[in-house]
Amino acid sequence: MPKVLISDKLSERALEVFRRRGIEADFRPGLPADELVACIGDYDGLAVRSASKVTADVLKAGNGTLKVVGRAGIGVDNIDLEAATQAGVVVMNTPYGNSITTAEHAIAMMMACARQIPAADASTQAGKWEKSRFMGVELFGKTLGLIGVGNIGSIVADRAQGLKMKVAAYDPFLSDERAKALGVEKVDFDALLAKADFITVHTPLTDSTRNLLDAAALAKCKDGVRIVNCARGGIVDEAALAEALASGKVAGAAFDVFAKEPAKENLLFGAPNMVCTPHLGAATEEAQENVAVQVAEQMADYLLTGAVSNALNMPSISAEDAPRLAPYMKLACQLGSFAGQVTETGLKSVTVEFEGAVAKLNVKPLVQAALAELMKPFSDTVNMVNAPVFARERGVDVSETIHERPGDYNTLIRLTVETERFTRSVAGTLFGGGLPRIVSIKGISIEAELTPHMLYITNRDEPGLIGGLGTLLGDAGVNIATFHLGRAEPGGDAIALIAADGPVAEETLTAIRALPQVLQAKPLAF
Ligand code: NAD
Ligand code: MLT
Repeated sequence: MPKVLISDKLSERALEVFRRRGIEADFRPGLPADELVACIGDYDGLAVRSASKVTADVLKAGNGTLKVVGRAGIGVDNIDLEAATQAGVVVMNTPYGNSITTAEHAIAMMMACARQIPAADASTQAGKWEKSRFMGVELFGKTLGLIGVGNIGSIVADRAQGLKMKVAAYDPFLSDERAKALGVEKVDFDALLAKADFITVHTPLTDSTRNLLDAAALAKCKDGVRIVNCARGGIVDEAALAEALASGKVAGAAFDVFAKEPAKENLLFGAPNMVCTPHLGAATEEAQENVAVQVAEQMADYLLTGAVSNALNMPSISAEDAPRLAPYMKLACQLGSFAGQVTETGLKSVTVEFEGAVAKLNVKPLVQAALAELMKPFSDTVNMVNAPVFARERGVDVSETIHERPGDYNTLIRLTVETERFTRSVAGTLFGGGLPRIVSIKGISIEAELTPHMLYITNRDEPGLIGGLGTLLGDAGVNIATFHLGRAEPGGDAIALIAADGPVAEETLTAIRALPQVLQAKPLAF
C-alpha cells in the first residue's frame, strides 16, 4: 500500500480521499525541515501547501521511494522543480481550485483600499468615531487596469464589470477574440498605466514580471491610482511603491503577497493607505477543500495507476510510448523553448509539422511538450497536460501536420508560430544516438545544438560581425563554445547562434546590439 505524508495544514478532506483510495496517509502539519528530511524516505508521496519547503535536500532524501509531490494550490515557489525532475519526482499542482477565492480576495482588497476600511475599523474600535477622516472613492465607472488575464485575472474582470467598472487589460497572451469575449479593452502596458484608476496584477513572478510596476511605471500612472497585488510579492517594487504612497502619487495599495514571506516586517507597513493581509488569497473553506481533494485524487491516480494530471515536470505519456518518444520529446521541448523565448507579442497560432520517421509516432505528447515550453515564459502553471487548454482559452490556434515521407532529413519537427507581428518557424532533427539539433530558423539553414547559455542574433549579412562579436564577448570574459551562422542569401537576412560557456551580461548585450550589423540580440537559456 503506498504511503503519503501531508506536511502542511491541508483540509482533512485530503485524508479522506487517500484512505478511500487505499493509501496510507500521515497528517503532520508544521513538520520542521530537519524532520521532513529525516522521514521523507519512508513515503511514496508528499502533499504540501506553501509552508513546507521541498528543497533539493528533501528530494534527495526521498531516495527513490518518493515518487510524487502534490501542491494543494497553484504556485510551486516552495518546491525545487529542477531537483525534483533530477530526482525523478513528479510535481503536481491544482491550477484551478482556488481561482475564484483569490479573485474574490483581490476585489475585497480593492474595496478595502477604496474605502480605507481597515484603518476606519481600527479607529472606530478605538472609540475615535473619526467620521470625516476616512473619505473614499467609488468603484462605479472607474477603470480597472488588469495585468495578467489568466484563470484569476479573467474572474476579476468579470466581478469588476459586475461592479460597473471599465476593465482595460494587458497580457501578451490576450487575443482580440478573448478580450472581446471577456468584455475587456485590450491595451498595451503604457496605455494601461495611463488610464487605470485601480491596477490589479495577476501574473506569475517571472523574470519579465519582477518589478513590473517599478518607479518608472508608477510615474506613468494617473495621480491617485490605487494598486492591488494578490498574485506574487516582487511584481510591484515595494520600495518604489512606499515612496509613491508617501508622495501621494499612489493614493492607496492593498497587498496580500510580499517580496519576502512570511512578511513579519516590510517597508510598506505603516505607509499611508496601505492595506495588508498575510497571503490569504486562497484562504477560504471552499478553496482549501477544492485543492485538498484535487491534489489527493491526482496523487492517488499517479501512485495507483500511473496516470498523470497537472504535472509541472512530466509529460502525460503511457509507459509503452515513453522510450521511443523520449529523444523527440527533448527536441520538441527545445523547439518550443526557443520559440517562446523569442516571442514577445500576442500569439495567434502554433503549427507543429512532423516529417519522416517521427510522423509515424504518437505525436500528440510532442505537440503538447512543444506548446508547454513555448508558453512557459508567460505562466508558471502551464504544463504538458494543460497546455492545449491554456492555448485554447487564450484564443491561440494549435494544429499539427503529418508528412510521412521524409524531406531533406530522415526525421524532422518544424514549429511555426504566428504572432500579431510575424510568422517564425524553427525546425530540428535527431542526429546519431538521438541527439536533438536545430537545422533551420526562419527558413534559414543552420545546424546547432542548443546548450544552457546561448545568444541568438539576427543581423545584416555584412562583413565584420564575427570579429565584432568575438571582441565584445572576449573582452567580457565570455568563452564561445560554438558559433553558427546562416543566411537567406548573400547580403540578405542572416542569423547567428552562439553557445557560450556562461551567461552574457546585460552591458555586453547592449554593446552587441550597438554593432552596426546587428538587428536583434537575444540571450536564450536551455
Ligand atoms: P495563470 O497562469 O492562469 O495566468 C497568468 C497570466 O499572466 C497568463 O495569462 C499570462 O499570459 C500572464 N502573464 C505572464 N507574464 C505576463 C506579463 N509580463 N505581463 C502581463 N501578463 C503576463 O495564473 P493564475 O492562476 O491566474 O494565477 C495568477 C497569479 O496568482 C499567480 O502568480 C499565482 O501564483 C497567484 N496566486 C496567488 C494566490 C494567493 O493566495 N494570493 C492564490 C492563487 C494564485
Ligand atoms: C497559490 O499559489 O495557490 C496561492 O499562493 C495560495 C497558497 O499558497 O495556498
